[in-house]
Amino acid sequence: MKDILADKNIVLGVCGGIAAYKSAELLRLFIKKGAKVRVMTSKSALKFIGEATLAALSGTSVCSDLFDAETADDGAAIKHIEWAETADAVVIAPATANMVGKLANGIADDALSTFLLAVTAPRFICPSMNTHMYENRAVQRNLDRLEQDGYAILEPGSGSLACGTVGPGRLPEPHEILALVTAGLTPKDLASQKVLVTAGPTHEPLDPVRYIGNPSSGKMGFALATAAADRGADVTLVSGPTVLADPPGVELVRVKTAQEMYTAVMERFADLDILIKSAAVSDFRPDTCCDQKVKKDKAADTICLARNPDILKEAGHAKKQQLLIGFAAETEHLEIYATGKLKEKNLDMIVGNLVTQAEAGFQADTNQVTLFFKDGTHATLPLMEKAQLAHVILDHIRQLPAR
Ligand code: CTP
Repeated sequence: MKDILADKNIVLGVCGGIAAYKSAELLRLFIKKGAKVRVMTSKSALKFIGEATLAALSGTSVCSDLFDAETADDGAAIKHIEWAETADAVVIAPATANMVGKLANGIADDALSTFLLAVTAPRFICPSMNTHMYENRAVQRNLDRLEQDGYAILEPGSGSLACGTVGPGRLPEPHEILALVTAGLTPKDLASQKVLVTAGPTHEPLDPVRYIGNPSSGKMGFALATAAADRGADVTLVSGPTVLADPPGVELVRVKTAQEMYTAVMERFADLDILIKSAAVSDFRPDTCCDQKVKKDKAADTICLARNPDILKEAGHAKKQQLLIGFAAETEHLEIYATGKLKEKNLDMIVGNLVTQAEAGFQADTNQVTLFFKDGTHATLPLMEKAQLAHVILDHIRQLPAR
């Protein structure tokens, strides 16, 4: 499956602010996803970033002047109109107070503002400026108006700004802007679906500084939650301990132990349409957890274990309308173990992978899986990025017979 941005015509609008340097990285990320990017700048933007940089990264000339731009690449049409008609998305990063004000009031007095009036494709505005400017009532009024006019606004981050003030106004990182644009362009084929995804390992404490765990990174579950949210689902992500950032647009419930995960999943289960259990849940926990750090000369030679609830199996017994998707990370006999779990836990589909395989293990950014279905069929997928695999898994879930 292609990335949603692959082959998309994106016009990146760059305005004159300190954060213009970040637009070069954003441009690189769009190109990496397979998009075709053209850059249009305000006049002052070129005081902050070099035209040669933007031209080299986009592989095409930059438009910064309405009058230089009067002919299109083929010399046949007016450039700002031709670019507007062929754009699949327009991203203004950074957007200055001046550009926000012009757009909100329909003013067209340079190449970028003129072009923006002619665009009908989705438009994403990433304001970035001094905190007092951002909080100015006129700017806020203009941003509200742009939102009402159908622009997607990415709120600036808060922090210490280049101008010395501390507060909102920082341009979000390029990967955050990429995520916003990706979500905005993804078809909403899971709208109105309530989806719960579990991710990561569980940590079962022995004492305040030790636990039983596993090396799951949570990447697959986070990718599934992000993809489902991008597709319009109402997503809750119940995650064990991970170092991953909170995915935008997702309700994130952080837990530590299998018992906490059990409670978080089961109290939401009745309302769900889809449960995807990608977490690597610990089957056992130490039967006692000491309040204080256990000293080595006082430690017992053996650890007594208690069994944790099998969350997915319980969900399988309780299920009504819900589709249940399990994961099976195995080191051998993939088909036998995965299909055994599919049956035993009353699942609709199970995603099996051999963790011994290169680039398909716990921490990797890629995975190679086989999907096993209730009717006895299976589909072996090629090695791919987890972000991409998440969409392929969701495509298969959409095709499962409704319950
Ligand atoms: N699972 C769960 N609760 C548990 C153990 C597993 O919900 N206590 C879920 C996992 O999230 C996964 C599926 O069950 O979706 C299979 O997990 P896995 O650890 O592979 O299998 P187990 O049933 O624990 O069997 P075994 O450890 O013997 O392979």
